[in-house]
Amino acid sequence: GKVAVLMGGSSAERDVSLRSGQAVLNALISQGVDAFAFDPAERNLFDLKSLQTDRAFIALHGRGGEDGTIQGALEFLGLPYTGSGVLGSALAMDKVRCKELFKARGLSSAEFVVVEQGAQFDSQAIINEFGAVMVKPAHEGSSIGMAKAATASELNEAISNAFRFDDTVMLEKWITGREFTVTMISGVAQPIVEMVTPRGFYDYEAKYQANSTQYYCPAELSQSETENLQLLAQHAFKLVGASGWGRVDAMRDQAGQFYLLEVNTVPGMTEKSLVPMAAKANGMNFSQLVINILEQTL
Ligand code: DAL
Ligand code: MG
Repeated sequence: GKVAVLMGGSSAERDVSLRSGQAVLNALISQGVDAFAFDPAERNLFDLKSLQTDRAFIALHGRGGEDGTIQGALEFLGLPYTGSGVLGSALAMDKVRCKELFKARGLSSAEFVVVEQGAQFDSQAIINEFGAVMVKPAHEGSSIGMAKAATASELNEAISNAFRFDDTVMLEKWITGREFTVTMISGVAQPIVEMVTPRGFYDYEAKYQANSTQYYCPAELSQSETENLQLLAQHAFKLVGASGWGRVDAMRDQAGQFYLLEVNTVPGMTEKSLVPMAAKANGMNFSQLVINILEQTL
């Protein structure tokens, strides 16, 4: 049957999605699958029916694509789709509610506070308590709108910038340490990737543009650390109701403690992306990965 690769969309991650979608589309076609690109920002999603679509491969990132809305519409149309369902998608897109869940279940994650648009906050008190802070729009991806702040004035600036993207901003205690990601395929943790960047953190440029980012897969961690982090990631993935494929990001501080950052239900699938890297370390090439993800909708 025909597979629609949903790509583009109207979120701040549109460009990344177009790259992910194109890579997925090429892989499907190379495997003899009858697939076509479909951009919900350009066409009415309900046209999928008249296009004789049998199933959808979701390669949309961010709001409107990764947050349960498209998933709900596809349910309504009766079209099977890749990845997590409505609830898992919606929850994973909400960084604050994910953190509340992690906290409730005792899964390690950095301390945080939430600032709503228009509300008062005391920047100096937050800096005094946390030291440095990572500022994040609550519903974004690809590090869009994120910044590190180490002083009250930096914090004010970072918060107003983050409010350009979201009405809710999350302030996390800054963790000094190493950045990792755990890929999930069929809900099972894959080899861990470590990302090393000379930039302050693994930001948009380090993710998609800089040649200075280095990746280590499998990450250089002891056997027991690897297993602990994979287990932590699997717990987080299940806890937010995610299923199938995805990616869980985490940090390790200098004392060796791991901290969950977040769950991604439609991780990047560009040539620089982490999920293909982890799959490869597990003996699965890009085309096999894409077919594997698609087959889970059967
Ligand atoms: N949000 C980007 C696409 C990722 O998680 O890979
Ligand atoms: Mg993300």
